[in-house]
Amino acid sequence: MTERRLLLLNGPNLNLLGSRQPEIYGSTTLAQIEKSTRSVAAEFGFDLRAVQSNHEGDLIDAIHLAREDCVGIIVNPAAYSHTSVAIPDALAGVELPVVEVHLSNVARREAFRHHSYVSAVADAVIAGAGPLGYEFAVRYLADRIGS
Ligand code: DQA
Repeated sequence: MTERRLLLLNGPNLNLLGSRQPEIYGSTTLAQIEKSTRSVAAEFGFDLRAVQSNHEGDLIDAIHLAREDCVGIIVNPAAYSHTSVAIPDALAGVELPVVEVHLSNVARREAFRHHSYVSAVADAVIAGAGPLGYEFAVRYLADRIGS
């Protein structure tokens, strides 16, 4: 593979970042997160495909596509973390390194957010670091994948 590409996948309601419950999720927009993540990825020689969807099936399709042309996945499955079996099944099926990111510290929030089905198939989980979590995810994948 000549091109090294990461998939940055954001789930439902994350398109509203910036105005959605800023006391929990901060004021950074998804566009800003995608831009900063892309720029850190570029430092390590990675191209970045950023996808956000409010639909579970679209997220699964993006994961399947990553098998063709990506070397790692950064995913914030948002509320689907706590409900979806199909998303972790898809992630397990593509056999790429996966980092699960949550902007908020889900362990400190409501009990229903304490369990993520995705964590069982993630290589690393980052929660509570805000938008920086996505940057940490790139750094982890760069170290994991190597040059
Ligand atoms: C979230 C945490 C989830 O519980 C929630 O449903 C989200 C965002 C986070 O980034 O902190 O939508 O994944």
